[in-house]
Amino acid sequence: MMILKNKIVLITGGASGIGAACAFNYVAEGATVVVIDKDATALQAMETQLGNAHLFINANVADNTDVETAIAQTLQTYGRLDAIHNNAGVASPAKPLEDTTEAEWDLLMNVNIRSIYYTTRHGISALKATKGCILNTSSLVGEIGQEQHAAYAGTKGAVNALTKAMALDYAAYGIRVNAVAPAGVWTPMLRQWNKEQADPSRMEQYLDQIHALGYCPEATEIASVCAFLLSDNARFVTGTIMPVSGGAELGYKRTL
Ligand SMILES: NC(=O)c1ccc[n+]([C@@H]2O[C@H](COP(=O)([O-])OP(=O)(O)OC[C@H]3O[C@@H](n4cnc5c(N)ncnc54)[C@H](O)[C@@H]3O)[C@@H](O)[C@H]2O)c1
Repeated sequence: MMILKNKIVLITGGASGIGAACAFNYVAEGATVVVIDKDATALQAMETQLGNAHLFINANVADNTDVETAIAQTLQTYGRLDAIHNNAGVASPAKPLEDTTEAEWDLLMNVNIRSIYYTTRHGISALKATKGCILNTSSLVGEIGQEQHAAYAGTKGAVNALTKAMALDYAAYGIRVNAVAPAGVWTPMLRQWNKEQADPSRMEQYLDQIHALGYCPEATEIASVCAFLLSDNARFVTGTIMPVSGGAELGYKRTL
């Protein structure tokens, strides 16, 4: 049975990595998707594959007007909105805090956090009408931290706090708000982070080993959990930060 049949799902950063895997999976589960991304070429490639029953919007999630316009276009096209998946994110730089430039800091805060403020501000009335839901792509580092990645970890800690506070605020409207927290996932973002490390090939082995289940996953592993959290199967789940991490957070590792 398709678990997202007839749902209109808006996903940000949906043209690559975890977002693209989610968008394809949501469609496979019966949803119509609105894919927002700043990468016009990647959006075009997705539209070619998924077809024009879905919307593909070239927009910057850190820009208030872009987000307002994208949500207005969604409502004009479909007349409703059942879910917002705030997935767009940036992860660079891999540096300690004092070496992070103001421009890098601002980009991380604007794309990873401010965007959630904008999608909520412009999308919440539509979600109230459908008793819809919000899903945020967080990261395990928002809970446990990460060396040389303080500003990014700070944004994901904020995503976790927002998820819980928003879950409380919107529960009265029947709106659920959850987050997924992967550890590593093989996407263009992780490949970029890997390149910034001193010894990338050793780091690949490390990335397999940090996951207790023994491998660093592809984005499809995350997408199936996201579909569950958006679906009515998760109708009594709100305010949760769900690790999708192969047990990476569980404790001491055997080898490194
Ligand atoms: N890959 C991992 O190991 C990992 C682990 C934990 C959490 N995450 C989180 O997962 C989410 C997706 O990451 P990914 O690994 O798939 O990355 P990715 O770089 O492959 O994809 C991110 C997408 O977001 C888009 N994007 C970036 N800034 C944008 C903006 N301002 N406006 C619109 N679109 C924008 C990019 O164009 C890209 O298509 C992020 O929030 C990231 O922090 C990733």
